[in-house]
Amino acid sequence: MVTLKIDGRKVTVRKLSTILDAARKLDIPIPTLCHHPELSPYGGCRLCLVEIEGIAKPAASCTTFAKEGMIVNTSSPYLEKLRRTNLELILSDHPNECMLCERSGDCKLQELAYFYGLRENRFKGEIRVYSKKDNNPFVTRDMEKCILCGQCVRICDEIQGVGAIDFAYRGLNTRVSPPFEKDLNCEFCGQCVAVCPTGALTGKMWAHKGRQNFKEVETICPYCGCGCNITLYVRRNEIIRISSNEETINEGWLCAKGRFGYGFVNSPERLTKPLIRIAPKENSIFNVKQTNPPLPPFTKVGRGGINNAALFKEVTWEEAFQYVSKRLKEIKENYGPDAIGGLASARCTNEENYLFQKFMRVVIGTNNVDHCARY
Ligand code: SF4
Ligand code: SF4
Ligand code: SF4
Ligand code: FES
Repeated sequence: MVTLKIDGRKVTVRKLSTILDAARKLDIPIPTLCHHPELSPYGGCRLCLVEIEGIAKPAASCTTFAKEGMIVNTSSPYLEKLRRTNLELILSDHPNECMLCERSGDCKLQELAYFYGLRENRFKGEIRVYSKKDNNPFVTRDMEKCILCGQCVRICDEIQGVGAIDFAYRGLNTRVSPPFEKDLNCEFCGQCVAVCPTGALTGKMWAHKGRQNFKEVETICPYCGCGCNITLYVRRNEIIRISSNEETINEGWLCAKGRFGYGFVNSPERLTKPLIRIAPKENSIFNVKQTNPPLPPFTKVGRGGINNAALFKEVTWEEAFQYVSKRLKEIKENYGPDAIGGLASARCTNEENYLFQKFMRVVIGTNNVDHCARY
């Protein structure tokens, strides 16, 4: 452990902690744009500068290790002037598009520009022009808004283990890119979108759906057994986007399904009433006429498909329960309980799944039970 003094306050942190870690432990605010606590230090934005007693020049607190007896100052007119200038330099190569930008209101760069009152920029000159559109299905990549903080590159490599993107070219041409500037073709976990501090990376599904005035709903991802926490941003009863809080079991990380797979919730194709498949010999139960010749039993039809009426009938829950119970009884009597198997779902609660296996074992009399939530 090492003990140091920051802004006159003592703090003890583990060896190999940075000054920024120590300052955060004391809740001392230091502006950052390229730092992420779960990623390797980078030191690119130079906003987190601090003064250290005995060291002539200010140092980046996110890449400087805390040392025993260090005396650190995080705020002074000189430091604020340096931070302001560095921010101006970043903004000098950034489009002024806040009015149309998907990230407006949730953009770290915009927030810092507001904090430092940066309206005019003293540094005029050549700026990057990058108009290539990426036709991948999930991530809008607007590289003119990229500030080269490298968080997307590091998260894709260090957390996701994919390495789908990296810095390409040099100087004013530097950009974050998939290999050979092709369209992004990756796992589409969206972790890069989640950490991007600007509007350079956004979800394609969010576009023009609204930026603020959401109802935030904390819930659990319905897909697999990991049970990641998700936050739904809901507007007029529609999910506009999904994120995840860092202080949850999944530490804010999500996979492609959790982050982008919410289209089914408001889909008009979603089943809202029970349907019963009408097998050829059972059509008398509901007096549904079979087609002539009969359709093969596993013909794939959509809910509104032309053959729908021939294979499915919409029924009430009561009718569905009666039908299921009648058929299970018949199968058990004719072929024994092991002719029946039950598949439970990750979308149910633990209690519901527990009851389901109990039903299969005690009422039906079989151990043929499985579950899609075995990650
Ligand atoms: S990325 Fe941020 S600062 Fe840049 S245009 Fe969008 S909202 Fe404005
Ligand atoms: S979506 Fe995931 S896999 Fe694809 S580039 Fe971003 S972090 Fe990497
Ligand atoms: S795309 Fe976003 S996260 Fe990646 S380097 Fe640019 S600003 Fe940073
Ligand atoms: S946060 Fe330290 S240099 Fe960017």
